[in-house]
Amino acid sequence: MNMNKIIIHGGRPLTGKVTVSGAKNSIVALMPASILADEPVVLEGVPDISDVHALINILQIMGAKIHFAKGVLTIDPRGVKSIPMPSGKINSLRASYYFMGALLGKFGKAVVGLPGGCNLGPRPIDLHIKGFKALGADVSDDNEDVMRLRAKATGLVASRIFMDMVSVGATINIMLAAVKAKGITVIENAAREPEIIDVATLLNNMGAKVYGVGTNEIRIEGVSELHGTRHSIIPDRIEAGTYLAIAAAVGKGVTVNNVLYEHLESYISKLEEMGVQMTIREDSITVHPNHDLKMVNVKTYPHPGFATDLQQPITSLLLKACGRGELIDTIYERRIGHIPELKRMGANIKIEDNHIVMTSPNELVGTEVVASDLRAGASLIVAGLMAKGVTTIHNVEFILRGYDRIVEKLTNLGADIALVDTNNIDKVKIKERG
Ligand code: EPZ
Repeated sequence: MNMNKIIIHGGRPLTGKVTVSGAKNSIVALMPASILADEPVVLEGVPDISDVHALINILQIMGAKIHFAKGVLTIDPRGVKSIPMPSGKINSLRASYYFMGALLGKFGKAVVGLPGGCNLGPRPIDLHIKGFKALGADVSDDNEDVMRLRAKATGLVASRIFMDMVSVGATINIMLAAVKAKGITVIENAAREPEIIDVATLLNNMGAKVYGVGTNEIRIEGVSELHGTRHSIIPDRIEAGTYLAIAAAVGKGVTVNNVLYEHLESYISKLEEMGVQMTIREDSITVHPNHDLKMVNVKTYPHPGFATDLQQPITSLLLKACGRGELIDTIYERRIGHIPELKRMGANIKIEDNHIVMTSPNELVGTEVVASDLRAGASLIVAGLMAKGVTTIHNVEFILRGYDRIVEKLTNLGADIALVDTNNIDKVKIKERG
Protein backbone atom coordinates (compact mmCIF):
# COMPACT_ATOMS: atom_id res chain seq x y z
CA MET A 1 0.00 0.00 0.00
CA ASN A 2 1.50 3.37 -0.86
CA MET A 3 2.23 5.70 2.00
CA ASN A 4 0.82 8.88 0.53
CA LYS A 5 -1.32 11.09 2.71
CA ILE A 6 -2.93 14.51 2.36
CA ILE A 7 -2.40 17.11 5.08
CA ILE A 8 -4.78 20.10 5.25
CA HIS A 9 -4.48 23.18 7.43
CA GLY A 10 -8.21 24.05 7.51
CA GLY A 11 -10.30 27.16 8.00
CA ARG A 12 -8.83 29.17 5.14
CA PRO A 13 -11.15 31.00 2.72
CA LEU A 14 -10.79 29.83 -0.91
CA THR A 15 -11.20 32.14 -3.89
CA GLY A 16 -10.48 32.03 -7.63
CA LYS A 17 -11.18 29.65 -10.50
CA VAL A 18 -10.93 25.87 -10.80
CA THR A 19 -11.30 23.87 -14.04
CA VAL A 20 -12.93 20.46 -14.01
CA SER A 21 -11.15 17.63 -15.85
CA GLY A 22 -12.62 14.91 -18.08
CA ALA A 23 -15.05 12.43 -16.53
CA LYS A 24 -13.51 9.44 -14.75
CA ASN A 25 -16.68 7.38 -15.19
CA SER A 26 -16.55 8.09 -18.90
CA ILE A 27 -12.88 7.44 -19.58
CA VAL A 28 -12.89 4.07 -17.76
CA ALA A 29 -15.50 2.90 -20.31
CA LEU A 30 -14.19 4.78 -23.37
CA MET A 31 -10.75 3.13 -23.14
CA PRO A 32 -12.06 -0.47 -23.28
CA ALA A 33 -14.63 0.64 -25.91
CA SER A 34 -11.78 1.87 -28.14
CA ILE A 35 -10.54 -1.68 -28.80
CA LEU A 36 -13.77 -2.34 -30.75
CA ALA A 37 -12.35 -0.12 -33.54
CA ASP A 38 -10.13 -1.54 -36.32
CA GLU A 39 -8.10 1.68 -36.38
CA PRO A 40 -6.58 4.11 -33.85
CA VAL A 41 -8.92 6.09 -31.57
CA VAL A 42 -7.90 9.48 -30.15
CA LEU A 43 -9.50 10.60 -26.87
CA GLU A 44 -9.15 14.26 -25.83
CA GLY A 45 -9.62 15.86 -22.41
CA VAL A 46 -8.48 12.70 -20.62
CA PRO A 47 -7.91 13.22 -16.86
CA ASP A 48 -4.50 12.33 -15.42
CA ILE A 49 -5.79 9.92 -12.76
CA SER A 50 -4.50 6.55 -11.60
CA ASP A 51 -7.48 4.67 -13.10
CA VAL A 52 -6.38 5.89 -16.56
CA HIS A 53 -2.82 4.66 -15.98
CA ALA A 54 -4.11 1.29 -14.72
CA LEU A 55 -6.21 0.87 -17.88
CA ILE A 56 -3.29 1.97 -20.11
CA ASN A 57 -1.27 -0.81 -18.50
CA ILE A 58 -3.98 -3.40 -19.20
CA LEU A 59 -4.41 -2.23 -22.81
CA GLN A 60 -0.66 -2.50 -23.42
CA ILE A 61 -0.63 -6.04 -22.01
CA MET A 62 -3.41 -6.86 -24.49
CA GLY A 63 -1.24 -5.55 -27.35
CA ALA A 64 -2.58 -2.04 -27.91
CA LYS A 65 -0.15 0.77 -28.75
CA ILE A 66 -0.70 3.77 -26.46
CA HIS A 67 0.41 7.40 -26.49
CA PHE A 68 -0.74 9.73 -23.67
CA ALA A 69 0.39 13.34 -23.37
CA LYS A 70 -1.26 16.65 -22.40
CA GLY A 71 -4.67 15.01 -21.96
CA VAL A 72 -4.66 13.39 -25.40
CA LEU A 73 -4.77 9.58 -25.35
CA THR A 74 -4.21 7.67 -28.58
CA ILE A 75 -5.14 3.98 -28.53
CA ASP A 76 -4.09 1.87 -31.53
CA PRO A 77 -6.03 -1.40 -31.05
CA ARG A 78 -4.70 -3.17 -34.17
CA GLY A 79 -2.37 -5.36 -32.12
CA VAL A 80 -4.97 -6.28 -29.48
CA LYS A 81 -5.45 -9.99 -28.84
CA SER A 82 -8.16 -11.61 -26.76
CA ILE A 83 -5.86 -12.88 -24.03
CA PRO A 84 -7.02 -13.99 -20.57
CA MET A 85 -6.86 -11.03 -18.17
CA PRO A 86 -5.84 -12.38 -14.79
CA SER A 87 -7.76 -10.87 -11.89
CA GLY A 88 -4.49 -9.91 -10.22
CA LYS A 89 -3.93 -7.37 -12.94
CA ILE A 90 -7.38 -5.87 -12.95
CA ASN A 91 -9.15 -6.46 -9.71
CA SER A 92 -8.08 -3.11 -8.30
CA LEU A 93 -10.33 -1.43 -10.80
CA ARG A 94 -14.02 -2.36 -10.93
CA ALA A 95 -14.46 -0.69 -14.33
CA SER A 96 -12.13 -3.30 -15.85
CA TYR A 97 -15.33 -5.32 -16.27
CA TYR A 98 -15.92 -3.25 -19.43
CA PHE A 99 -13.30 -5.46 -21.10
CA MET A 100 -15.87 -8.28 -20.90
CA GLY A 101 -18.29 -6.44 -23.21
CA ALA A 102 -15.55 -4.98 -25.42
CA LEU A 103 -13.67 -8.28 -25.95
CA LEU A 104 -16.93 -10.21 -26.42
CA GLY A 105 -18.10 -7.59 -28.93
CA LYS A 106 -14.78 -7.62 -30.82
CA PHE A 107 -13.65 -11.27 -30.69
CA GLY A 108 -16.74 -13.18 -29.54
CA LYS A 109 -14.85 -14.34 -26.47
CA ALA A 110 -13.34 -12.97 -23.25
CA VAL A 111 -11.59 -14.24 -20.14
CA VAL A 112 -11.55 -11.49 -17.51
CA GLY A 113 -10.76 -11.51 -13.80
CA LEU A 114 -13.73 -10.54 -11.62
CA PRO A 115 -13.72 -6.86 -10.69
CA GLY A 116 -12.65 -5.26 -7.45
CA GLY A 117 -13.24 -1.56 -6.82
CA CYS A 118 -14.45 0.51 -3.87
CA ASN A 119 -15.86 -1.12 -0.78
CA LEU A 120 -19.42 0.20 -1.08
CA GLY A 121 -20.97 -3.08 -0.07
CA PRO A 122 -21.86 -5.92 -2.48
CA ARG A 123 -21.34 -4.92 -6.12
CA PRO A 124 -22.65 -7.85 -8.19
CA ILE A 125 -22.46 -8.07 -11.98
CA ASP A 126 -25.49 -10.36 -12.49
CA LEU A 127 -27.15 -7.84 -14.84
CA HIS A 128 -24.03 -7.68 -17.03
CA ILE A 129 -24.09 -11.48 -17.28
CA LYS A 130 -27.84 -11.53 -17.98
CA GLY A 131 -27.19 -9.22 -20.96
CA PHE A 132 -24.26 -11.26 -22.33
CA LYS A 133 -26.29 -14.48 -22.08
CA ALA A 134 -29.26 -12.82 -23.80
CA LEU A 135 -26.92 -12.01 -26.70
CA GLY A 136 -26.12 -15.72 -26.96
CA ALA A 137 -22.83 -15.91 -25.05
CA ASP A 138 -21.93 -18.81 -22.77
CA VAL A 139 -20.76 -17.38 -19.44
CA SER A 140 -19.00 -19.25 -16.63
CA ASP A 141 -17.18 -18.01 -13.56
CA ASP A 142 -15.07 -21.01 -12.65
CA ASN A 143 -13.38 -20.68 -9.23
CA GLU A 144 -15.27 -17.44 -8.67
CA ASP A 145 -12.19 -15.54 -9.76
CA VAL A 146 -12.34 -15.36 -13.52
CA MET A 147 -15.29 -14.83 -15.87
CA ARG A 148 -15.18 -16.82 -19.12
CA LEU A 149 -17.45 -15.60 -21.92
CA ARG A 150 -17.79 -17.17 -25.35
CA ALA A 151 -20.22 -16.44 -28.16
CA LYS A 152 -21.58 -19.26 -30.35
CA ALA A 153 -19.71 -19.90 -33.58
CA THR A 154 -22.40 -17.89 -35.40
CA GLY A 155 -21.52 -14.84 -33.28
CA LEU A 156 -23.67 -12.75 -30.95
CA VAL A 157 -27.31 -12.26 -31.85
CA ALA A 158 -29.43 -9.24 -30.96
CA SER A 159 -31.94 -9.54 -28.11
CA ARG A 160 -34.41 -7.55 -26.03
CA ILE A 161 -32.98 -7.21 -22.50
CA PHE A 162 -34.89 -5.83 -19.50
CA MET A 163 -32.61 -4.51 -16.75
CA ASP A 164 -34.05 -5.64 -13.39
CA MET A 165 -32.24 -2.68 -11.79
CA VAL A 166 -31.02 0.55 -13.37
CA SER A 167 -27.30 -0.15 -13.78
CA VAL A 168 -24.73 2.19 -15.35
CA GLY A 169 -22.11 -0.53 -15.78
CA ALA A 170 -24.44 -3.18 -17.14
CA THR A 171 -26.04 -0.72 -19.59
CA ILE A 172 -22.61 0.25 -20.98
CA ASN A 173 -21.22 -3.30 -20.96
CA ILE A 174 -24.19 -4.70 -22.90
CA MET A 175 -23.91 -1.80 -25.37
CA LEU A 176 -20.24 -2.71 -25.99
CA ALA A 177 -21.10 -6.37 -26.60
CA ALA A 178 -24.09 -5.56 -28.83
CA VAL A 179 -22.64 -3.03 -31.31
CA LYS A 180 -21.56 -5.81 -33.71
CA ALA A 181 -24.28 -8.36 -32.82
CA LYS A 182 -26.57 -9.38 -35.70
CA GLY A 183 -29.90 -7.52 -35.57
CA ILE A 184 -31.36 -4.86 -33.29
CA THR A 185 -30.70 -5.19 -29.53
CA VAL A 186 -33.03 -3.33 -27.16
CA ILE A 187 -31.97 -2.49 -23.59
CA GLU A 188 -35.05 -1.68 -21.51
CA ASN A 189 -34.92 0.13 -18.16
CA ALA A 190 -31.47 1.37 -19.24
CA ALA A 191 -29.49 3.80 -17.08
CA ARG A 192 -29.50 7.43 -18.29
CA GLU A 193 -26.22 8.80 -16.90
CA PRO A 194 -24.31 11.33 -19.08
CA GLU A 195 -21.34 8.94 -19.21
CA ILE A 196 -23.53 6.43 -21.08
CA ILE A 197 -24.33 9.09 -23.68
CA ASP A 198 -20.59 9.82 -23.93
CA VAL A 199 -19.77 6.16 -24.65
CA ALA A 200 -22.56 5.93 -27.25
CA THR A 201 -21.25 9.11 -28.91
CA LEU A 202 -17.81 7.50 -29.25
CA LEU A 203 -19.31 4.27 -30.60
CA ASN A 204 -21.49 6.09 -33.14
CA ASN A 205 -18.48 8.18 -34.25
CA MET A 206 -16.75 4.83 -34.82
CA GLY A 207 -19.62 3.78 -37.09
CA ALA A 208 -21.93 2.05 -34.63
CA LYS A 209 -25.71 2.54 -34.64
CA VAL A 210 -26.79 3.26 -31.05
CA TYR A 211 -30.06 5.14 -30.52
CA GLY A 212 -32.01 6.37 -27.50
CA VAL A 213 -29.17 6.85 -25.01
CA GLY A 214 -30.23 9.18 -22.22
CA THR A 215 -33.65 7.57 -22.20
CA ASN A 216 -34.58 4.29 -20.51
CA GLU A 217 -34.73 2.41 -23.83
CA ILE A 218 -31.56 2.04 -25.93
CA ARG A 219 -31.64 0.39 -29.39
CA ILE A 220 -28.45 -0.92 -30.98
CA GLU A 221 -28.39 -2.01 -34.64
CA GLY A 222 -25.38 -4.30 -35.10
CA VAL A 223 -22.74 -3.32 -37.69
CA SER A 224 -19.81 -5.31 -39.04
CA GLU A 225 -17.06 -2.65 -39.04
CA LEU A 226 -16.01 0.00 -36.54
CA HIS A 227 -13.38 2.54 -37.66
CA GLY A 228 -11.14 4.93 -35.75
CA THR A 229 -12.23 8.39 -34.61
CA ARG A 230 -11.33 11.36 -32.43
CA HIS A 231 -13.53 12.04 -29.37
CA SER A 232 -13.52 14.75 -26.71
CA ILE A 233 -14.82 13.44 -23.38
CA ILE A 234 -17.42 15.14 -21.20
CA PRO A 235 -16.45 17.01 -18.01
CA ASP A 236 -16.52 15.11 -14.72
CA ARG A 237 -19.84 16.09 -13.09
CA ILE A 238 -18.82 14.44 -9.80
CA GLU A 239 -15.54 16.35 -9.63
CA ALA A 240 -17.52 19.51 -10.46
CA GLY A 241 -20.05 18.78 -7.70
CA THR A 242 -17.20 18.21 -5.24
CA TYR A 243 -15.70 21.64 -6.00
CA LEU A 244 -19.16 23.26 -5.74
CA ALA A 245 -19.47 21.73 -2.25
CA ILE A 246 -15.99 23.04 -1.33
CA ALA A 247 -16.86 26.49 -2.72
CA ALA A 248 -20.10 26.55 -0.71
CA ALA A 249 -18.32 25.33 2.43
CA VAL A 250 -15.21 27.54 2.53
CA GLY A 251 -15.36 29.74 -0.59
CA LYS A 252 -15.30 33.53 -0.74
CA GLY A 253 -16.20 33.58 -4.43
CA VAL A 254 -15.13 30.51 -6.44
CA THR A 255 -15.84 29.87 -10.12
CA VAL A 256 -15.97 26.26 -11.31
CA ASN A 257 -15.20 26.06 -15.05
CA ASN A 258 -16.01 23.21 -17.49
CA VAL A 259 -19.25 22.16 -15.79
CA LEU A 260 -22.55 21.42 -17.58
CA TYR A 261 -25.66 22.49 -15.65
CA GLU A 262 -27.75 19.73 -17.27
CA HIS A 263 -25.41 17.10 -15.73
CA LEU A 264 -26.03 18.41 -12.19
CA GLU A 265 -29.61 19.73 -12.11
CA SER A 266 -30.75 17.75 -9.06
CA TYR A 267 -27.51 18.55 -7.17
CA ILE A 268 -27.64 22.28 -7.95
CA SER A 269 -31.30 22.36 -6.96
CA LYS A 270 -30.33 20.84 -3.57
CA LEU A 271 -27.54 23.45 -3.10
CA GLU A 272 -30.08 26.21 -3.87
CA GLU A 273 -32.49 24.65 -1.36
CA MET A 274 -29.67 24.98 1.23
CA GLY A 275 -29.36 28.68 0.39
CA VAL A 276 -26.14 28.51 -1.65
CA GLN A 277 -25.98 31.59 -3.92
CA MET A 278 -24.71 30.77 -7.43
CA THR A 279 -24.42 32.35 -10.87
CA ILE A 280 -24.95 29.65 -13.49
CA ARG A 281 -23.52 30.17 -16.99
CA GLU A 282 -23.31 27.87 -20.04
CA ASP A 283 -20.20 26.01 -18.87
CA SER A 284 -19.26 27.55 -15.53
CA ILE A 285 -20.81 28.20 -12.13
CA THR A 286 -19.73 30.87 -9.64
CA VAL A 287 -20.50 30.18 -5.98
CA HIS A 288 -20.83 33.41 -4.03
CA PRO A 289 -19.85 33.75 -0.35
CA ASN A 290 -22.75 32.61 1.76
CA HIS A 291 -23.38 32.64 5.47
CA ASP A 292 -26.36 30.77 6.86
CA LEU A 293 -26.88 27.46 5.10
CA LYS A 294 -30.09 25.54 5.77
CA MET A 295 -30.02 21.79 6.50
CA VAL A 296 -31.88 19.71 3.90
CA ASN A 297 -32.78 16.05 3.34
CA VAL A 298 -31.10 14.16 0.48
CA LYS A 299 -32.11 10.93 -1.24
CA THR A 300 -29.97 9.50 -4.06
CA TYR A 301 -31.47 8.09 -7.26
CA PRO A 302 -30.26 7.02 -10.71
CA HIS A 303 -29.71 9.98 -13.09
CA PRO A 304 -31.29 12.51 -13.40
CA GLY A 305 -31.85 12.08 -9.66
CA PHE A 306 -29.30 13.11 -7.01
CA ALA A 307 -26.07 11.21 -7.79
CA THR A 308 -24.93 8.68 -5.19
CA ASP A 309 -21.32 9.76 -5.87
CA LEU A 310 -22.15 13.23 -4.51
CA GLN A 311 -23.80 11.94 -1.32
CA GLN A 312 -20.48 11.83 0.51
CA PRO A 313 -19.14 15.30 -0.49
CA ILE A 314 -22.46 17.00 0.32
CA THR A 315 -22.57 15.23 3.72
CA SER A 316 -19.53 17.32 4.75
CA LEU A 317 -21.03 20.53 3.36
CA LEU A 318 -24.24 19.88 5.30
CA LEU A 319 -22.20 19.95 8.52
CA LYS A 320 -22.09 23.73 8.02
CA ALA A 321 -25.87 23.99 7.84
CA CYS A 322 -28.33 24.75 10.64
CA GLY A 323 -30.98 22.20 11.62
CA ARG A 324 -31.47 18.45 11.34
CA GLY A 325 -31.11 16.56 8.07
CA GLU A 326 -31.21 13.01 6.73
CA LEU A 327 -29.42 11.43 3.78
CA ILE A 328 -30.58 8.14 2.28
CA ASP A 329 -28.45 6.46 -0.39
CA THR A 330 -30.90 4.25 -2.30
CA ILE A 331 -28.12 3.01 -4.64
CA TYR A 332 -25.54 1.90 -2.04
CA GLU A 333 -27.00 1.80 1.45
CA ARG A 334 -23.57 0.89 2.86
CA ARG A 335 -21.92 3.99 1.37
CA ILE A 336 -21.11 5.29 4.84
CA GLY A 337 -17.33 4.90 5.17
CA HIS A 338 -16.98 8.63 5.76
CA ILE A 339 -19.34 8.75 8.75
CA PRO A 340 -17.04 7.39 11.52
CA GLU A 341 -14.24 9.65 10.25
CA LEU A 342 -16.43 12.75 10.28
CA LYS A 343 -17.50 11.80 13.81
CA ARG A 344 -13.82 11.73 14.83
CA MET A 345 -13.61 15.30 13.53
CA GLY A 346 -16.42 16.27 15.91
CA ALA A 347 -19.42 15.98 13.60
CA ASN A 348 -22.81 15.42 15.20
CA ILE A 349 -23.69 12.62 12.76
CA LYS A 350 -25.00 9.06 13.11
CA ILE A 351 -26.58 6.18 11.20
CA GLU A 352 -30.19 5.37 12.03
CA ASP A 353 -31.54 2.33 10.09
CA ASN A 354 -29.44 3.13 7.00
CA HIS A 355 -30.24 6.84 7.16
CA ILE A 356 -27.37 9.29 7.76
CA VAL A 357 -28.70 11.75 10.35
CA MET A 358 -26.98 15.10 11.05
CA THR A 359 -27.86 17.75 13.62
CA SER A 360 -26.27 21.20 13.96
CA PRO A 361 -24.21 22.74 15.41
CA ASN A 362 -21.07 21.12 14.04
CA GLU A 363 -17.61 22.50 14.85
CA LEU A 364 -15.13 20.32 12.97
CA VAL A 365 -11.60 19.93 14.35
CA GLY A 366 -8.75 18.47 12.31
CA THR A 367 -7.37 15.04 13.23
CA GLU A 368 -6.03 11.85 11.59
CA VAL A 369 -8.67 10.25 9.33
CA VAL A 370 -8.74 7.39 6.83
CA ALA A 371 -10.35 7.38 3.36
CA SER A 372 -12.31 4.13 2.91
CA ASP A 373 -13.18 4.79 -0.75
CA LEU A 374 -12.94 7.43 -3.46
CA ARG A 375 -15.87 9.67 -2.56
CA ALA A 376 -15.44 9.14 1.20
CA GLY A 377 -11.95 10.56 0.64
CA ALA A 378 -13.47 13.54 -1.16
CA SER A 379 -15.82 14.18 1.75
CA LEU A 380 -12.83 14.16 4.14
CA ILE A 381 -11.08 16.78 1.99
CA VAL A 382 -14.20 18.99 2.17
CA ALA A 383 -14.33 18.46 5.95
CA GLY A 384 -10.58 19.09 6.35
CA LEU A 385 -10.89 22.42 4.54
CA MET A 386 -13.75 23.36 6.88
CA ALA A 387 -12.10 22.15 10.12
CA LYS A 388 -10.00 24.09 12.61
CA GLY A 389 -6.38 22.89 12.75
CA VAL A 390 -4.66 20.15 10.76
CA THR A 391 -6.41 17.16 9.16
CA THR A 392 -4.31 14.25 7.93
CA ILE A 393 -6.04 11.94 5.45
CA HIS A 394 -4.59 8.44 4.97
CA ASN A 395 -5.24 5.98 2.10
CA VAL A 396 -5.30 8.84 -0.38
CA GLU A 397 -4.65 6.51 -3.32
CA PHE A 398 -8.44 6.12 -3.39
CA ILE A 399 -8.79 9.89 -3.97
CA LEU A 400 -6.07 10.01 -6.63
CA ARG A 401 -8.03 7.40 -8.64
CA GLY A 402 -10.75 9.89 -9.45
CA TYR A 403 -9.62 13.49 -8.84
CA ASP A 404 -7.13 14.90 -11.35
CA ARG A 405 -4.46 17.07 -9.60
CA ILE A 406 -6.81 17.84 -6.66
CA VAL A 407 -4.03 19.11 -4.37
CA GLU A 408 -2.71 21.48 -7.07
CA LYS A 409 -6.22 22.72 -7.90
CA LEU A 410 -7.05 23.41 -4.23
CA THR A 411 -3.67 25.07 -3.61
CA ASN A 412 -4.42 27.41 -6.52
CA LEU A 413 -7.65 28.37 -4.73
CA GLY A 414 -5.68 29.28 -1.59
CA ALA A 415 -5.93 26.07 0.40
CA ASP A 416 -3.08 25.02 2.67
CA ILE A 417 -2.90 21.41 1.50
CA ALA A 418 -0.07 19.02 0.65
CA LEU A 419 0.27 15.49 -0.69
CA VAL A 420 2.93 13.87 1.47
CA ASP A 421 4.80 10.69 0.72
CA THR A 422 5.46 9.51 4.26
CA ASN A 423 8.46 7.62 2.97
CA ASN A 424 10.01 11.06 2.36
CA ILE A 425 8.11 13.17 4.86
CA ASP A 426 10.97 15.61 5.37
CA LYS A 427 10.69 16.68 1.72
CA VAL A 428 7.31 18.31 2.15
CA LYS A 429 6.55 20.62 5.03
CA ILE A 430 3.20 22.27 5.67
CA LYS A 431 3.73 26.01 5.60
CA GLU A 432 3.25 26.91 9.26
CA ARG A 433 1.14 30.06 9.44
CA GLY A 434 -0.05 32.02 12.37
C1 EPZ B 1 -21.09 3.29 -11.67
O1 EPZ B 1 -20.81 2.11 -10.95
C2 EPZ B 1 -20.04 4.29 -11.23
N1 EPZ B 1 -18.72 3.76 -11.55
C3 EPZ B 1 -20.14 4.52 -9.73
O2 EPZ B 1 -19.19 5.54 -9.39
C4 EPZ B 1 -21.53 5.03 -9.41
O3 EPZ B 1 -21.65 5.17 -8.01
C5 EPZ B 1 -22.57 4.02 -9.92
O4 EPZ B 1 -22.38 3.80 -11.32
C6 EPZ B 1 -24.00 4.48 -9.70
O5 EPZ B 1 -24.19 5.69 -10.36
C7 EPZ B 1 -18.29 3.86 -12.84
O6 EPZ B 1 -18.98 4.35 -13.69
C8 EPZ B 1 -16.91 3.32 -13.10
P1 EPZ B 1 -24.37 0.42 -11.10
P2 EPZ B 1 -21.56 0.73 -11.38
O7 EPZ B 1 -24.20 -0.81 -11.92
O8 EPZ B 1 -21.77 0.72 -12.83
C9 EPZ B 1 -26.54 -2.84 -8.45
C10 EPZ B 1 -17.43 6.52 -8.24
O9 EPZ B 1 -17.38 6.92 -7.07
N2 EPZ B 1 -26.14 -3.79 -9.49
O10 EPZ B 1 -25.12 1.57 -11.68
O11 EPZ B 1 -20.83 -0.39 -10.75
C11 EPZ B 1 -25.35 -2.27 -7.70
O12 EPZ B 1 -24.96 -3.12 -6.64
C12 EPZ B 1 -18.08 5.20 -8.54
O13 EPZ B 1 -17.00 7.15 -9.24
C13 EPZ B 1 -26.59 -5.10 -9.42
O14 EPZ B 1 -27.32 -5.49 -8.51
O15 EPZ B 1 -22.94 0.93 -10.63
C14 EPZ B 1 -25.88 -0.94 -7.20
O16 EPZ B 1 -26.61 -1.13 -6.00
C15 EPZ B 1 -18.51 4.46 -7.29
N3 EPZ B 1 -26.22 -5.99 -10.38
C16 EPZ B 1 -26.85 -0.51 -8.32
O17 EPZ B 1 -27.14 -1.71 -9.06
C17 EPZ B 1 -25.42 -5.61 -11.45
O18 EPZ B 1 -25.13 -6.46 -12.33
C18 EPZ B 1 -26.26 0.50 -9.28
O19 EPZ B 1 -25.01 0.00 -9.69
C19 EPZ B 1 -24.97 -4.28 -11.50
C20 EPZ B 1 -25.35 -3.39 -10.52
